[in-house]
Amino acid sequence: MAYETILVETRGKVGLITLNRPQALNALNGQLIGEINQALDGFEADAGIGCVVLTGSEKAFAAGADIKEMQSRSFPGTYLDDKFADWDRIGRRRKPIVAAVAGFALGGGCELAMMCDFIIAADNAKFGQPEINLGVIPGAGGTQRLTKAIGKSKAMDLILTGRMMGAEEAERSGLVARVVPLADLLAETLKAAEAIAAKSLPSVLMAKESVERAFEVTLQEGLRFERRVFASLFATADQKEGMAAFAEKRKPDFRNA
Ligand code: CAA
Repeated sequence: MAYETILVETRGKVGLITLNRPQALNALNGQLIGEINQALDGFEADAGIGCVVLTGSEKAFAAGADIKEMQSRSFPGTYLDDKFADWDRIGRRRKPIVAAVAGFALGGGCELAMMCDFIIAADNAKFGQPEINLGVIPGAGGTQRLTKAIGKSKAMDLILTGRMMGAEEAERSGLVARVVPLADLLAETLKAAEAIAAKSLPSVLMAKESVERAFEVTLQEGLRFERRVFASLFATADQKEGMAAFAEKRKPDFRNA
């Protein structure tokens, strides 16, 4: 597959996607979102891949949706096109995706990072939803995911003022799982992704699905869902292997079965 706006590699059991439009600070145009989806389709279908890392450059994870592409759009065209349906597919993937964010993660860039399962940020990362400065609002989930991640007060602050927040504030707010020095960002994120990819894939997929449920349903419904999924994992060979390995004081050899 020839990609023009991203770089795609595999590192062992980890799929690595690097956004690659440096001249536009990785602004997210339709082609780039399409290519991310193609790469993710490939990784989802590849039984050898257990986790995906999504990253950008040292200067920008992504500076937002491509403003120049959107500039001349009309209301009916924007509404009818349902431009963000393609973006939504990124947030509905089954295998875990970890975002490694350095530099700007603004507007759609912040929204793309939030579609991933968790974010590891470099100490130079800057997050924000500056759409208000353009006379619009976040359109790819920012008003919803940011609010769920950091709460109403801070989400309102960021979305209404359009200000940026640094890595430390983002970690303190719960948007970011960890902050690491810029020089270590990719290595640390790949290490986390490799650790995930070494687990039993059925349990990883079910853990991800169960955490996602917490955002969709009531506590009691979520607990019932978790209980059923927990029980179902006892039908896997990997549960037998994982628990036997613990009892025998050795590392488990998971077969995704
Ligand atoms: N879309 C299109 N092009 C963009 C872009 C964007 N979101 N962000 C940056 N670029 C382009 C610039 O136009 C510039 O291109 P030229 O060299 O051809 O002029 C190039 O990238 C470098 O950018 P700057 O010269 O502006 O770099 P800087 O270091 O001075 O500033 C920045 C960096 C503060 C991130 C600034 O580029 C900026 O404010 N970008 C826009 C951020 C933004 O408003 N994002 C929200 C977009 S709307 C959205 O995302 C909607 C949604 O919810 C999905």
